[in-house]
Amino acid sequence: MSFRIQPAAPARPNRCQLFGPGSRPAIFEKMAGSAADVINLDLEDSVAPSDKDSARENIIQAIGDIDWGKKTLSVRINGLDTPYWYRDVVDLLEKSSDRLDQLMIPKVGCAADLYAVDALVTAVERAKGRTKPIKFEVIIESAAGIAHVEEIAAGSPRLEAMSLGAADFAASMGMATTGIGGTQENYYMLHEGAKHWSDPWHWAQAAIVAACRTHGVLPVDGPFGDFSDDEGYRAQALRSATLGMVGKWAIHPKQVALANEVFTPSEKAVTEAREILAAMEEAKAKGEGATVYKGRLVDIASIKQAEVIVKQSEMIAGH
Ligand code: COA
Ligand code: MG
Repeated sequence: MSFRIQPAAPARPNRCQLFGPGSRPAIFEKMAGSAADVINLDLEDSVAPSDKDSARENIIQAIGDIDWGKKTLSVRINGLDTPYWYRDVVDLLEKSSDRLDQLMIPKVGCAADLYAVDALVTAVERAKGRTKPIKFEVIIESAAGIAHVEEIAAGSPRLEAMSLGAADFAASMGMATTGIGGTQENYYMLHEGAKHWSDPWHWAQAAIVAACRTHGVLPVDGPFGDFSDDEGYRAQALRSATLGMVGKWAIHPKQVALANEVFTPSEKAVTEAREILAAMEEAKAKGEGATVYKGRLVDIASIKQAEVIVKQSEMIAGH
Protein backbone atom coordinates (compact mmCIF):
# COMPACT_ATOMS: atom_id res chain seq x y z
CA MET A 1 0.00 0.00 0.00
CA SER A 2 1.16 3.47 -0.81
CA PHE A 3 2.20 5.60 2.14
CA ARG A 4 0.03 8.34 0.71
CA ILE A 5 -3.35 8.59 2.37
CA GLN A 6 -6.27 8.54 -0.07
CA PRO A 7 -7.72 12.07 -0.07
CA ALA A 8 -11.34 12.51 0.98
CA ALA A 9 -13.81 13.77 -1.61
CA PRO A 10 -15.76 16.96 -0.75
CA ALA A 11 -18.13 16.21 2.15
CA ARG A 12 -21.34 17.45 0.60
CA PRO A 13 -24.37 15.55 -0.68
CA ASN A 14 -24.33 15.00 -4.44
CA ARG A 15 -27.04 12.35 -4.76
CA CYS A 16 -28.88 14.03 -7.58
CA GLN A 17 -27.91 16.70 -10.13
CA LEU A 18 -31.02 18.17 -11.75
CA PHE A 19 -30.53 19.68 -15.21
CA GLY A 20 -32.55 22.30 -16.99
CA PRO A 21 -31.94 24.29 -20.17
CA GLY A 22 -30.87 27.90 -19.66
CA SER A 23 -33.27 28.80 -22.43
CA ARG A 24 -36.24 27.69 -20.27
CA PRO A 25 -36.24 30.11 -17.31
CA ALA A 26 -39.83 29.17 -16.42
CA ILE A 27 -38.54 25.97 -14.80
CA PHE A 28 -35.75 27.56 -12.73
CA GLU A 29 -37.97 28.15 -9.66
CA LYS A 30 -39.19 24.54 -9.90
CA MET A 31 -35.58 23.35 -10.03
CA ALA A 32 -34.78 25.42 -6.92
CA GLY A 33 -37.78 23.91 -5.15
CA SER A 34 -36.79 20.33 -6.01
CA ALA A 35 -35.08 17.86 -3.68
CA ALA A 36 -31.91 17.70 -5.83
CA ASP A 37 -28.62 18.37 -4.05
CA VAL A 38 -27.07 19.97 -7.14
CA ILE A 39 -28.65 22.17 -9.79
CA ASN A 40 -27.10 22.31 -13.26
CA LEU A 41 -28.31 25.20 -15.37
CA ASP A 42 -27.33 24.32 -18.91
CA LEU A 43 -25.74 26.46 -21.59
CA GLU A 44 -24.51 23.50 -23.64
CA ASP A 45 -26.38 20.86 -25.58
CA SER A 46 -29.94 21.52 -24.40
CA VAL A 47 -29.65 25.11 -25.71
CA ALA A 48 -29.86 25.86 -29.45
CA PRO A 49 -27.05 28.00 -30.92
CA SER A 50 -29.48 30.87 -31.57
CA ASP A 51 -30.42 30.91 -27.85
CA LYS A 52 -26.93 30.86 -26.32
CA ASP A 53 -26.79 34.60 -25.55
CA SER A 54 -30.26 34.85 -24.05
CA ALA A 55 -29.79 31.63 -22.05
CA ARG A 56 -26.60 33.09 -20.57
CA GLU A 57 -28.47 36.23 -19.52
CA ASN A 58 -31.35 34.18 -18.05
CA ILE A 59 -28.91 32.19 -15.95
CA ILE A 60 -26.91 35.19 -14.74
CA GLN A 61 -30.13 36.85 -13.59
CA ALA A 62 -31.50 33.69 -11.95
CA ILE A 63 -28.30 33.00 -9.99
CA GLY A 64 -28.88 36.21 -8.04
CA ASP A 65 -32.67 36.38 -8.02
CA ILE A 66 -33.75 32.87 -7.04
CA ASP A 67 -33.39 31.36 -3.57
CA TRP A 68 -31.38 28.20 -4.26
CA GLY A 69 -31.30 27.21 -0.60
CA LYS A 70 -28.38 24.97 0.37
CA LYS A 71 -28.02 23.46 -3.09
CA THR A 72 -24.76 23.36 -4.98
CA LEU A 73 -25.39 25.67 -7.92
CA SER A 74 -23.56 24.79 -11.11
CA VAL A 75 -23.68 26.05 -14.69
CA ARG A 76 -22.71 23.78 -17.56
CA ILE A 77 -20.67 25.90 -19.98
CA ASN A 78 -20.12 25.07 -23.63
CA GLY A 79 -17.27 22.79 -24.68
CA LEU A 80 -13.80 24.06 -25.50
CA ASP A 81 -14.37 23.07 -29.13
CA THR A 82 -17.07 25.77 -29.50
CA PRO A 83 -16.93 29.55 -29.95
CA TYR A 84 -19.18 30.05 -26.89
CA TRP A 85 -17.27 28.84 -23.86
CA TYR A 86 -15.03 31.87 -23.19
CA ARG A 87 -18.04 34.19 -23.21
CA ASP A 88 -19.84 31.78 -20.84
CA VAL A 89 -16.96 31.96 -18.37
CA VAL A 90 -16.33 35.70 -18.66
CA ASP A 91 -19.97 36.77 -18.44
CA LEU A 92 -20.84 34.36 -15.64
CA LEU A 93 -17.90 35.45 -13.51
CA GLU A 94 -18.17 39.14 -14.32
CA LYS A 95 -21.91 39.48 -13.97
CA SER A 96 -23.33 36.78 -11.72
CA SER A 97 -23.62 36.97 -7.94
CA ASP A 98 -21.29 34.90 -5.80
CA ARG A 99 -24.13 32.41 -5.18
CA LEU A 100 -22.67 30.52 -8.15
CA ASP A 101 -20.67 27.57 -6.82
CA GLN A 102 -19.44 25.61 -9.79
CA LEU A 103 -18.83 25.45 -13.52
CA MET A 104 -19.37 22.15 -15.28
CA ILE A 105 -16.95 21.66 -18.17
CA PRO A 106 -18.29 19.18 -20.74
CA LYS A 107 -16.33 16.93 -23.09
CA VAL A 108 -12.98 17.31 -21.35
CA GLY A 109 -10.25 15.41 -23.19
CA CYS A 110 -7.12 16.17 -21.18
CA ALA A 111 -5.94 17.92 -18.03
CA ALA A 112 -4.94 21.00 -20.06
CA ASP A 113 -8.63 21.64 -20.73
CA LEU A 114 -9.07 22.30 -17.01
CA TYR A 115 -5.91 24.40 -16.96
CA ALA A 116 -7.24 26.59 -19.76
CA VAL A 117 -10.57 27.23 -18.03
CA ASP A 118 -8.79 27.73 -14.70
CA ALA A 119 -6.53 30.39 -16.22
CA LEU A 120 -9.51 32.35 -17.53
CA VAL A 121 -11.55 31.90 -14.32
CA THR A 122 -8.60 32.99 -12.19
CA ALA A 123 -8.04 36.13 -14.26
CA VAL A 124 -11.70 37.19 -14.07
CA GLU A 125 -11.94 36.38 -10.36
CA ARG A 126 -8.93 38.61 -9.68
CA ALA A 127 -10.16 41.40 -11.94
CA LYS A 128 -13.58 41.42 -10.27
CA GLY A 129 -12.32 40.80 -6.73
CA ARG A 130 -14.43 37.64 -6.38
CA THR A 131 -13.42 36.10 -3.07
CA LYS A 132 -15.31 32.80 -3.30
CA PRO A 133 -13.33 30.57 -5.69
CA ILE A 134 -15.42 28.84 -8.34
CA LYS A 135 -15.24 25.05 -8.24
CA PHE A 136 -15.21 22.79 -11.30
CA GLU A 137 -16.96 19.61 -12.30
CA VAL A 138 -16.27 17.78 -15.55
CA ILE A 139 -17.99 15.30 -17.81
CA ILE A 140 -16.08 12.33 -19.18
CA GLU A 141 -17.88 11.76 -22.46
CA SER A 142 -15.28 11.05 -25.12
CA ALA A 143 -12.65 8.47 -25.95
CA ALA A 144 -9.94 11.01 -25.03
CA GLY A 145 -11.70 11.77 -21.75
CA ILE A 146 -11.70 8.16 -20.61
CA ALA A 147 -8.17 7.54 -21.96
CA HIS A 148 -6.90 10.49 -19.87
CA VAL A 149 -9.29 10.11 -16.95
CA GLU A 150 -6.64 9.97 -14.27
CA GLU A 151 -4.74 13.10 -15.32
CA ILE A 152 -8.09 14.87 -15.62
CA ALA A 153 -9.07 13.85 -12.07
CA ALA A 154 -5.76 15.36 -10.92
CA GLY A 155 -6.10 18.30 -13.29
CA SER A 156 -7.18 21.20 -11.07
CA PRO A 157 -7.46 22.04 -7.38
CA ARG A 158 -10.87 23.47 -8.27
CA LEU A 159 -12.19 20.07 -9.37
CA GLU A 160 -14.91 18.59 -7.11
CA ALA A 161 -16.89 16.14 -9.24
CA MET A 162 -16.69 14.05 -12.42
CA SER A 163 -19.65 12.57 -14.31
CA LEU A 164 -19.95 9.97 -17.04
CA GLY A 165 -21.93 11.33 -20.00
CA ALA A 166 -23.24 8.19 -21.63
CA ALA A 167 -24.63 9.57 -24.91
CA ASP A 168 -21.66 11.62 -26.10
CA PHE A 169 -19.36 8.92 -24.74
CA ALA A 170 -21.09 6.26 -26.83
CA ALA A 171 -20.92 8.46 -29.93
CA SER A 172 -17.24 9.25 -29.48
CA MET A 173 -16.43 5.58 -28.91
CA GLY A 174 -18.35 4.57 -32.02
CA MET A 175 -20.66 2.38 -29.95
CA ALA A 176 -23.63 0.94 -31.83
CA THR A 177 -26.22 2.36 -29.41
CA THR A 178 -28.87 5.07 -29.36
CA GLY A 179 -30.15 4.91 -25.75
CA ILE A 180 -28.78 7.37 -23.14
CA GLY A 181 -27.43 4.97 -20.50
CA GLY A 182 -28.95 1.76 -19.21
CA THR A 183 -29.30 -1.69 -20.76
CA GLN A 184 -28.37 -1.97 -24.43
CA GLU A 185 -30.30 -4.60 -26.32
CA ASN A 186 -27.35 -6.07 -28.22
CA TYR A 187 -24.93 -6.25 -25.30
CA TYR A 188 -25.61 -9.73 -23.99
CA MET A 189 -23.94 -13.05 -23.27
CA LEU A 190 -25.56 -16.24 -24.45
CA HIS A 191 -25.68 -19.13 -22.01
CA GLU A 192 -27.51 -22.34 -22.88
CA GLY A 193 -29.66 -20.40 -25.31
CA ALA A 194 -30.67 -17.71 -22.81
CA LYS A 195 -29.60 -14.07 -23.12
CA HIS A 196 -27.96 -12.41 -20.11
CA TRP A 197 -27.59 -8.68 -20.46
CA SER A 198 -24.31 -7.14 -19.46
CA ASP A 199 -23.42 -3.53 -18.63
CA PRO A 200 -21.53 -1.68 -21.39
CA TRP A 201 -20.95 1.36 -19.11
CA HIS A 202 -19.35 -0.66 -16.35
CA TRP A 203 -15.70 -0.29 -17.25
CA ALA A 204 -15.90 3.44 -17.88
CA GLN A 205 -17.69 3.91 -14.57
CA ALA A 206 -15.11 1.86 -12.72
CA ALA A 207 -12.28 3.83 -14.36
CA ILE A 208 -13.94 7.10 -13.32
CA VAL A 209 -14.47 5.92 -9.75
CA ALA A 210 -10.82 4.81 -9.45
CA ALA A 211 -9.51 8.13 -10.84
CA CYS A 212 -11.85 10.13 -8.60
CA ARG A 213 -11.08 8.19 -5.45
CA THR A 214 -7.35 8.52 -6.09
CA HIS A 215 -7.64 12.31 -6.27
CA GLY A 216 -10.46 13.19 -3.85
CA VAL A 217 -13.12 13.92 -6.49
CA LEU A 218 -16.82 12.89 -6.36
CA PRO A 219 -17.70 10.24 -9.02
CA VAL A 220 -21.18 10.74 -10.47
CA ASP A 221 -23.31 8.82 -12.94
CA GLY A 222 -24.75 10.92 -15.76
CA PRO A 223 -28.09 10.96 -17.52
CA PHE A 224 -30.65 8.22 -18.07
CA GLY A 225 -32.65 9.36 -21.05
CA ASP A 226 -35.84 7.28 -20.85
CA PHE A 227 -37.60 9.19 -18.09
CA SER A 228 -40.69 7.02 -18.33
CA ASP A 229 -38.65 3.97 -17.24
CA ASP A 230 -38.32 4.29 -13.45
CA GLU A 231 -37.16 0.71 -12.97
CA GLY A 232 -34.47 1.14 -15.63
CA TYR A 233 -33.25 4.31 -13.91
CA ARG A 234 -33.24 2.62 -10.51
CA ALA A 235 -31.32 -0.40 -11.84
CA GLN A 236 -28.68 1.83 -13.45
CA ALA A 237 -28.38 3.94 -10.29
CA LEU A 238 -28.06 0.87 -8.06
CA ARG A 239 -25.22 -0.42 -10.24
CA SER A 240 -23.48 2.97 -10.05
CA ALA A 241 -23.87 3.15 -6.26
CA THR A 242 -22.51 -0.40 -5.94
CA LEU A 243 -19.42 0.66 -7.92
CA GLY A 244 -18.74 3.68 -5.67
CA MET A 245 -20.52 6.55 -7.40
CA VAL A 246 -22.23 9.05 -5.09
CA GLY A 247 -25.10 10.24 -7.28
CA LYS A 248 -26.75 10.48 -10.66
CA TRP A 249 -28.19 13.16 -12.92
CA ALA A 250 -31.90 13.81 -13.37
CA ILE A 251 -32.99 15.11 -16.75
CA HIS A 252 -36.61 15.22 -15.61
CA PRO A 253 -37.88 16.16 -12.12
CA LYS A 254 -39.43 12.74 -11.59
CA GLN A 255 -35.95 11.19 -11.52
CA VAL A 256 -34.87 13.22 -8.47
CA ALA A 257 -36.67 11.05 -5.90
CA LEU A 258 -35.29 7.89 -7.54
CA ALA A 259 -31.71 9.15 -7.25
CA ASN A 260 -32.17 10.34 -3.67
CA GLU A 261 -33.60 6.98 -2.69
CA VAL A 262 -30.74 4.97 -4.20
CA PHE A 263 -27.88 7.24 -3.07
CA THR A 264 -29.09 7.75 0.51
CA PRO A 265 -27.87 4.72 2.47
CA SER A 266 -30.99 2.86 3.61
CA GLU A 267 -31.80 2.44 7.30
CA LYS A 268 -31.25 -1.30 6.84
CA ALA A 269 -27.79 -0.77 5.33
CA VAL A 270 -26.80 1.70 8.07
CA THR A 271 -28.04 -0.60 10.83
CA GLU A 272 -26.11 -3.52 9.39
CA ALA A 273 -22.97 -1.37 9.02
CA ARG A 274 -23.26 -0.25 12.67
CA GLU A 275 -23.71 -3.88 13.77
CA ILE A 276 -20.56 -4.86 11.87
CA LEU A 277 -18.66 -2.05 13.58
CA ALA A 278 -19.97 -3.19 16.97
CA ALA A 279 -19.03 -6.82 16.22
CA MET A 280 -15.52 -5.71 15.28
CA GLU A 281 -15.22 -3.60 18.47
CA GLU A 282 -16.05 -6.72 20.47
CA ALA A 283 -13.56 -8.77 18.47
CA LYS A 284 -10.83 -6.15 19.00
CA ALA A 285 -11.50 -6.12 22.74
CA LYS A 286 -10.80 -9.85 22.72
CA GLY A 287 -7.61 -9.27 20.72
CA GLU A 288 -9.06 -10.73 17.50
CA GLY A 289 -8.77 -9.17 14.02
CA ALA A 290 -11.66 -11.14 12.53
CA THR A 291 -15.02 -12.45 13.70
CA VAL A 292 -18.30 -13.85 12.43
CA TYR A 293 -21.34 -11.66 11.73
CA LYS A 294 -24.55 -13.37 10.59
CA GLY A 295 -22.61 -16.45 9.51
CA ARG A 296 -20.00 -14.59 7.44
CA LEU A 297 -16.47 -13.36 7.98
CA VAL A 298 -15.91 -9.75 8.95
CA ASP A 299 -12.44 -8.38 9.54
CA ILE A 300 -10.52 -5.12 9.69
CA ALA A 301 -11.35 -4.35 6.03
CA SER A 302 -15.04 -4.74 6.91
CA ILE A 303 -14.66 -1.82 9.35
CA LYS A 304 -13.62 0.43 6.45
CA GLN A 305 -16.47 -0.80 4.25
CA ALA A 306 -19.01 -0.26 7.03
CA GLU A 307 -17.58 3.18 7.79
CA VAL A 308 -18.16 4.29 4.16
CA ILE A 309 -21.89 3.67 4.62
CA VAL A 310 -22.16 5.16 8.12
CA LYS A 311 -20.14 8.27 7.23
CA GLN A 312 -22.13 8.87 4.03
CA SER A 313 -25.37 8.57 5.98
CA GLU A 314 -24.18 10.94 8.73
CA MET A 315 -22.86 13.46 6.20
CA ILE A 316 -26.21 13.53 4.36
CA ALA A 317 -28.21 13.75 7.60
CA GLY A 318 -26.02 16.56 8.93
CA HIS A 319 -26.16 18.74 5.85
N1 COA B 1 -36.57 20.80 -13.85
C1 COA B 1 -37.64 21.19 -13.13
N2 COA B 1 -38.90 21.09 -13.57
C2 COA B 1 -39.08 20.59 -14.80
C3 COA B 1 -38.01 20.16 -15.60
C4 COA B 1 -36.70 20.28 -15.08
N3 COA B 1 -35.65 19.88 -15.79
N4 COA B 1 -38.50 19.68 -16.76
C5 COA B 1 -39.83 19.80 -16.70
N5 COA B 1 -40.20 20.36 -15.52
C6 COA B 1 -41.55 20.62 -15.03
C7 COA B 1 -42.49 21.12 -16.10
O1 COA B 1 -42.43 22.53 -16.17
C8 COA B 1 -43.82 20.60 -15.60
O2 COA B 1 -44.22 21.46 -14.53
P1 COA B 1 -45.78 21.72 -14.24
O3 COA B 1 -46.32 20.42 -13.74
O4 COA B 1 -45.74 22.79 -13.21
O5 COA B 1 -46.38 22.16 -15.54
C9 COA B 1 -43.47 19.28 -14.95
O6 COA B 1 -42.06 19.37 -14.59
C10 COA B 1 -43.69 18.07 -15.86
O7 COA B 1 -42.96 18.28 -17.06
P2 COA B 1 -43.21 17.39 -18.36
O8 COA B 1 -44.38 17.96 -19.12
O9 COA B 1 -43.28 15.96 -18.00
O10 COA B 1 -41.89 17.60 -19.18
P3 COA B 1 -41.58 18.66 -20.34
O11 COA B 1 -42.13 18.12 -21.62
O12 COA B 1 -42.03 20.03 -19.91
O13 COA B 1 -39.99 18.62 -20.40
C11 COA B 1 -37.85 17.72 -20.90
C12 COA B 1 -39.31 17.41 -20.62
C13 COA B 1 -37.07 16.40 -20.95
C14 COA B 1 -37.70 18.47 -22.21
C15 COA B 1 -37.32 18.60 -19.72
O14 COA B 1 -37.52 17.90 -18.54
C16 COA B 1 -35.91 19.03 -19.84
O15 COA B 1 -35.61 20.00 -20.53
N6 COA B 1 -34.97 18.35 -19.12
C17 COA B 1 -33.61 18.76 -19.01
C18 COA B 1 -32.84 18.59 -20.30
C19 COA B 1 -31.41 18.98 -20.10
O16 COA B 1 -31.09 19.90 -19.36
N7 COA B 1 -30.50 18.26 -20.76
C20 COA B 1 -29.10 18.50 -20.58
C21 COA B 1 -28.47 17.46 -19.74
S1 COA B 1 -28.46 15.87 -20.50
MG1 MG C 1 -22.92 15.57 -23.49
